[in-house]
Amino acid sequence: MTKLLIGQLVHFGAEPHQVVHEERGGLVAGDDGTILWRGPLALLPEAFSHIERDDHGKKLLMSGFIDAHIHFPQYRMLAAAAVDLLDWLSRYTFPEEARYADRVYADTAAEIFLQRLFSNGTTSALAFCSSHKVCAEALFAAAAKRNMALITGKTMMDRGAIPAVEDDPEQSAIDTLALHKAFHSKGRLRHAVTPRFAITSSDKQLKLAGEVLQDCPGALMQTHLSESLGEIARVKELFPNDHDYLGVYERFGLLTDRSLFAHGIHLSESEANRLSEAGGTVVHCPTSNTFLGSGLMSMDHLRSVSLGLATDVGGGTSYSMLQTLGETYKVQMLCGLKLKATELFHMATLGNARRLKIELETGSLDVGKFADVIVLDPEATPVLAARHPLSQSLEDVLFSLALLGDDRAISATYVAGQRVH
Ligand code: GUN
Ligand code: ZN
Repeated sequence: MTKLLIGQLVHFGAEPHQVVHEERGGLVAGDDGTILWRGPLALLPEAFSHIERDDHGKKLLMSGFIDAHIHFPQYRMLAAAAVDLLDWLSRYTFPEEARYADRVYADTAAEIFLQRLFSNGTTSALAFCSSHKVCAEALFAAAAKRNMALITGKTMMDRGAIPAVEDDPEQSAIDTLALHKAFHSKGRLRHAVTPRFAITSSDKQLKLAGEVLQDCPGALMQTHLSESLGEIARVKELFPNDHDYLGVYERFGLLTDRSLFAHGIHLSESEANRLSEAGGTVVHCPTSNTFLGSGLMSMDHLRSVSLGLATDVGGGTSYSMLQTLGETYKVQMLCGLKLKATELFHMATLGNARRLKIELETGSLDVGKFADVIVLDPEATPVLAARHPLSQSLEDVLFSLALLGDDRAISATYVAGQRVH
């Protein structure tokens, strides 16, 4: 049904400083879930003047958040204390992911996972699944039901873990191709070829992953890169002939302009240059990087590289992209870079949409895109409510939401025009 959403409209143009702000604005979502009109309410076309409406008063209407890296089968295992990344993976993560061999478990988890994204204002994500094909099928099916732009794939990992999550390299390639055929570009779904990281794939599997990527037109590639020092040392042991960590992925054709690498904390100058030449993306995961003690990723060091932002749940400690923006701000302050709130919100919306190649359908409130919209309440909590009257600009309001907000500040979420939270 066609619906009018009313509130303080905040819409980002191509660059962070190009913000359209309507104190009393509206947008119309059509039957097909796309935005038919957007503008100041005073200019609402007569044709829409009597349609159903949700009036959110002075709350902010903006494009939903996009999480560029999150692990679906880790949805329950946040805050698992470990010595470091490799300890955390073997102690908690692999045993939890083993449960996702069970389709019933995965189906139940997918419902909870997507609802958790929506309650945090996240309307699209690039997600890891477990190594089990049924896990990816469960998540694709749950996202399709909600007409959501979701990108995922089965994790490829044939060594270095526990048998219950290790796959066979040939079967892994067959399953990955089958998932592409079954789900890629079906409605709003997209597929990503998903080798976990160099440590958990043999040469044979990485070679097959590169070949499969060629055979999956339009697919993204997602993996992890240069997250912890222990991980980097292990990659050196396993791949002694490669010049550096990124070199392993390059050798197998996994560095492309559709490749997303989570973390990238300890990259050398040479790795950063090669990433930027190839058009690959590094996804910054601040709450995970601090929680696991992996390190401080300097955006300034990677200024030539295309960057995304993500929660990395369950290494990350929050589903909230608002909290992720706040932690991005703090980590970059420690690295000597002071970000603006508009830059942070732009990264979490249109910026991430571009990195995930879904900017033609989401990431901003342009007419013709899907109405993936959130309603932010800048007075949602006592602390925000006390802070709000001191704000003198939209930048101030957005900044206090990024630093003080969480799921309580998300008062509604719409996916393709349907209210889901
Ligand atoms: N590196 C390989 N797998 C993972 C994972 O599940 N989480 C994080 N944070 N890093 C990884
Ligand atoms: Zn991750």
